[in-house]
Amino acid sequence: MTHVSPAQKQSGSGGNGPAAASKALYGGTGSRRITVRDISAAKERGEKWPMLTAYDAMTASVFDQAGIPVMLVGDSMGNCHLGYESTVPVTMDEMTLLSAAVVRGTRRALIVGDLPFGSYQEGPVQALRNATRLIKDAGVGAVKLEGGERSAHQIELLVQAGIPVMAHVGLTPQSVNAFGGYPVQGRGEEAAQQLLRDAKAVQDAGAFAVVLELVPAELAAEVTRSLHIPTVGIGAGPDCDAQVLVWTDMAGMTEGRVPRFVKQYAQLRQSLGDAARAFAEDVVGGAYPAAEHSFR
Ligand code: KIV
Repeated sequence: MTHVSPAQKQSGSGGNGPAAASKALYGGTGSRRITVRDISAAKERGEKWPMLTAYDAMTASVFDQAGIPVMLVGDSMGNCHLGYESTVPVTMDEMTLLSAAVVRGTRRALIVGDLPFGSYQEGPVQALRNATRLIKDAGVGAVKLEGGERSAHQIELLVQAGIPVMAHVGLTPQSVNAFGGYPVQGRGEEAAQQLLRDAKAVQDAGAFAVVLELVPAELAAEVTRSLHIPTVGIGAGPDCDAQVLVWTDMAGMTEGRVPRFVKQYAQLRQSLGDAARAFAEDVVGGAYPAAEHSFR
């Protein structure tokens, strides 16, 4: 039976045929690493694509082999991997170490390294210094930073220096202390206009894509229509060009309540806990190791 990937179906319905399918970000047949030019071409083809976060080599290799074309070493590692209460404490050392691991664990995906809080807010020169570190020491193919108009100068300098930038507007979690939580952004005419200005500002500054986080679906659709760079939605409805989820939310690894926009595709926390309990019971009861696990 011939396998038809979702990307082939998409390109088929768009009338672009097998050539477009071979270039598809998800389901494509190319074996080299995906670049920001491939991302731009996908927007031109009208192809939707998935992005997941990753924080270690082994998990990243699973996603790479599943065909996930873009992985974000997000500063969500603060909450999901390092045990912090928010993304705010994440450091450049932590980001560089884990980004390098994700790069080592992958062959095809474009790896985007997040610039953590305090690594670019001082201005463009600080941003360039830290982005350069992620590119050189970790080997990422692009960096992400938060903020619209307020981060435009940083984006401009990075892009001039040859560093691809993914921007991030709407709910920007590094500003949790200013927001007083994680509220939906862009509600009401004035806030919606500001969001549109922010998205336009990062595009004009040279960003190759922009994350829209926690934005009403209709507004995200309007931003997506009005930009020539792709929008990557998280809690921003179905009309963005791409969708990103934090992998521990997507796979049911996160403890407790997950945000409403999350769809869980597995229950890894339950499975892993069950495996750990089964191992513990075998050890305590003497069933493990058995003869086949022992050397003679
Ligand atoms: O750090 C992160 O994981 C992110 C995504 C939620 C977009 O910024």
